Amino acid sequence: MAETPSEPGADLEAVVDHYGRRYEEAGRLVEGPGRLELLRTQEVIRRHLPSHRLNVLDVGGGTGVHALWLAEDGHDVELIDPVVRHVEAAARIDPTRGSLRARLGEARQLECADESFDVVLLLGPLYHLQERPDRVRALEEATRVLRPGGLLFAAAISRFASLHDGLSREFLFDPEFRSIVTRDLETGRHENPGGHDGWFTTAYFHRPEELREEVAAAGLELRALVGLEGLGGWLPHLDARWSDPATSEIILTAARAVESEPSLMGLSAHLLAVAARPS
Ligand SMILES: C[S@@+](CC[C@H](N)C(=O)[O-])C[C@H]1O[C@@H](n2cnc3c(N)ncnc32)[C@H](O)[C@@H]1O
Repeated sequence: MAETPSEPGADLEAVVDHYGRRYEEAGRLVEGPGRLELLRTQEVIRRHLPSHRLNVLDVGGGTGVHALWLAEDGHDVELIDPVVRHVEAAARIDPTRGSLRARLGEARQLECADESFDVVLLLGPLYHLQERPDRVRALEEATRVLRPGGLLFAAAISRFASLHDGLSREFLFDPEFRSIVTRDLETGRHENPGGHDGWFTTAYFHRPEELREEVAAAGLELRALVGLEGLGGWLPHLDARWSDPATSEIILTAARAVESEPSLMGLSAHLLAVAARPS
């Protein structure tokens, strides 16, 4: 394991290649399990936000899906991302929908003034940085730009995500995928050496206690740690249920019921840490 953080940006080739050329991120949160991730992320974030207008920095904001609903909620949102195609997509969002700006940037070296944001989102960078010093550096940068008392929302992918995804989508019956999963479970370091489309790119998969520890190492106070999707995120046959508000609500209720249950935390595809910069 590296002793010090990597040079920001120098190690992002796989991520930039994945999102820039191979994978279309824009549609991910609008269908299937992505919809559950979006709705649950929204509800956990809204639960913790004060009701007045906030300055929000969305680090690794992708094409702007979360930035948009936050801007439509009345907040002033700045998005940064290292992938040109993502920044261009976010910059194309209709300005009449809310206050949203987008620019290129990197989580470990935020070009932002100290204490300049009420809220920082890190919904992506922590699971693409494989080395702990890099993840702690990203969390420290988020802490630096937060005003005292400001809130951080940081997402991680569960250590068990590729195992469950492999079973759900049947990649696990491929021996090459099984060997990737074996390594993921042992080390958390996920690679896709064959460059298979549909298999995730270079990433780090957290155990809940690791995310808790990294947040504390950056000097943040953890307010909540939740599993976002629960079992529902692994059940593709639930897709048809999203067209009916009553059955949608049942899927969301099932996720809420176990969100803080320690014995089931790693079942969710995504973990979300809510933390504050000490006042
Ligand atoms: C799966 S997408 C998530 C996008 C969005 N935040 C969401 O939650 O839907 C992961 C994002 O993290 C970005 N990312 C990866 N490494 C990063 C880093 N070191 N700094 C900033 N963003 C990074 C990627 O470019 C990508 O847009």
